[in-house]
Amino acid sequence: MTATFVVRAADPGDAAELKRLGDAVAAEPEGWLATQQGWRSVGDERRYLRAIRRYPHAAVFVAEAEDGSIVGRLSIARDQHPASRHVADLGLMVAQSHRRQGIGRALLAAAADWAREHDIAKLELHVFPYNEAAIALYERFGFVREGYRTKHYRQGDELVDAILMAYEL
Ligand SMILES: CC(C)(COP(=O)(O)OP(=O)(O)OC[C@H]1O[C@@H](n2cnc3c(N)ncnc32)[C@H](O)[C@@H]1OP(=O)(O)O)[C@@H](O)C(=O)NCCC(=O)NCCS
Repeated sequence: MTATFVVRAADPGDAAELKRLGDAVAAEPEGWLATQQGWRSVGDERRYLRAIRRYPHAAVFVAEAEDGSIVGRLSIARDQHPASRHVADLGLMVAQSHRRQGIGRALLAAAADWAREHDIAKLELHVFPYNEAAIALYERFGFVREGYRTKHYRQGDELVDAILMAYEL
């Protein structure tokens, strides 16, 4: 099935929808996200989206479905260390109801365009080793595995591993 959606820069008015999406994905039993306590509050999300409108080093893109609901979110932020300002880190999620319809790929393409426009030469991200869907998406897009981070994230009481992946623009 092909979804009808548009990818656009997030607006502060999307905060409530983004909280709903973030909470839903964070609550999935597989634990796809490092955040499991739920998403930041609507107010904090709105403040963040407002702040990055004036900040040239980070962006959030959303996928909006035909009914106006937000079904995908990608955030990208430039590394602020002077020696690695050519690198940007990203995070991605798509609503469970809308997966496998090309939304993840479209959001990655928007991030890559934004990065090129901002003189970023390399994208990086972390993914849990069991997240086969995300790894397949990233590898198909052109990301390569760069490393393996042992006990890199806290998940409840446990420290869990992550794969470091990168994409050269
Ligand atoms: C990972 C995720 C973002 C993928 O988003 P998506 O919109 O479903 O991905 P797309 O539809 O753009 O998939 C593009 C390609 O990636 C690969 N892919 C995506 N999901 C896959 C799956 N479940 N199994 C195998 N390959 C998959 C396929 O090659 C697919 O192309 P195809 O459908 O033409 O075969 C989504 O599953 C998700 O949000 N998961 C939960 C949160 C998460 O894991 N975020 C990433 C944390 S690092």
